[in-house]
Amino acid sequence: MFDRPRANERAVLVNIKFSSSADDQIVEEFVELARAAGAEPVAQVSGKRSRPDAKLYVGSGKAEEIRLIAEENDSQLVIFNHSLSPGQERNLEKLLNCRVLDRTGLILDIFAQRAHSFEGKLQVELAQLRHLSTRLIRGWTHLERQKGGIGLRGPGETQLETDRRLISKRMKVLKKRLEKVAQQRQGRRQTRQKRNIQTVSLVGYTNAGKSTLFNRMTGADVYCSDQLFATLDPTLRRVSINGGEHVILADTVGFVSDLPHDLVAAFKATLEETQEANLLLHVVDATAPHRDDLIVEVDAVLKEIGADEVPIIQVMNKIDRLDDAEPRIERDINGVVRRVWLSAVTGQGIDLLRKVLREVCLEGEAMTSSALESKEKGQGDDVDVAARIYYGV
Ligand code: GTP
Repeated sequence: MFDRPRANERAVLVNIKFSSSADDQIVEEFVELARAAGAEPVAQVSGKRSRPDAKLYVGSGKAEEIRLIAEENDSQLVIFNHSLSPGQERNLEKLLNCRVLDRTGLILDIFAQRAHSFEGKLQVELAQLRHLSTRLIRGWTHLERQKGGIGLRGPGETQLETDRRLISKRMKVLKKRLEKVAQQRQGRRQTRQKRNIQTVSLVGYTNAGKSTLFNRMTGADVYCSDQLFATLDPTLRRVSINGGEHVILADTVGFVSDLPHDLVAAFKATLEETQEANLLLHVVDATAPHRDDLIVEVDAVLKEIGADEVPIIQVMNKIDRLDDAEPRIERDINGVVRRVWLSAVTGQGIDLLRKVLREVCLEGEAMTSSALESKEKGQGDDVDVAARIYYGV
């Protein structure tokens, strides 16, 4: 039903630049995303525009260039690193004589392959149907005539109307089920809160090493691989941080720049785990060439999902691949932990992270970012109280 790249399907990738910002990293990530969906990128087309063309997204000359490249490379699939309107997608397909997939469709496709939990699968299906419902005309036009069908449609209904009706019915069922799962999740969270068990959520850019760190901390065997979005569902485990004391550690979906808005909305329930955590560990690939940009991207998503008030500590991961990086804890002038440098693979610095968790979760030394800002403005005492109230200590 969906435009899923078949395994190793040859694809032409299109990335258009709208500003003068460096985009090597954007293109690199796009290639990885296409691979993660199972496509085999055979050619890349780039271009520059001041704004997208209303009809084709690119200019007609560029569209012709893409058509020729797809033909030369024997490719039946063109993937755009941008969100296309249903009309643009349709016009491009007609002109290129190929299937066209936009960035939302691509990410949805990867999510669909990676969702393992019941809730994750429901969320992906709902998001896919939402995406599809605006694009129904395409591929259905040839069916748009009156046909009979037992139990399928009412009298005089066209195929398109039937499909719309079926989709909206299925979406309603999915929404109901999701509500139920969300209630159960909320119930479990409340139990943890009542028992005063702290929840620490791992967040971070896709491929930063969250699952590897999660495994290292919990001894669990969460699937991790050098693929984007290996983790889609939140996984929760107990981690002992001080003999008998423990916290709940949650591994969450990896973030990606430019995550389409409707996808953020689709994963709201999963991301609630992040919003309601007592502490966020923002895992950063310290070896990534543009790591500061990625940190900003993750902070932006956290803000978008309403998690920017949760105290946060950056975990600078993969130090085994950096020259001269020692495991260490970095504090600000007030002694508040800002960063821990470690390697989830070799285990260097993991003891420091446990120490930080003891300090923050058991002794309540962390504070919210807004609290920190006011502390930096010199209202320290109030802040300490605020932080302690926040942690219930
Ligand atoms: P998503 O599920 O996409 O969000 O990824 P993730 O952040 O969970 O990353 P994951 O743990 O799957 O790790 C991604 C890749 O980085 C894997 O190939 C890991 O082996 C590698 N990796 C993780 N931690 C380290 C580390 O400390 N050092 C090195 N050298 N590689 C690491």
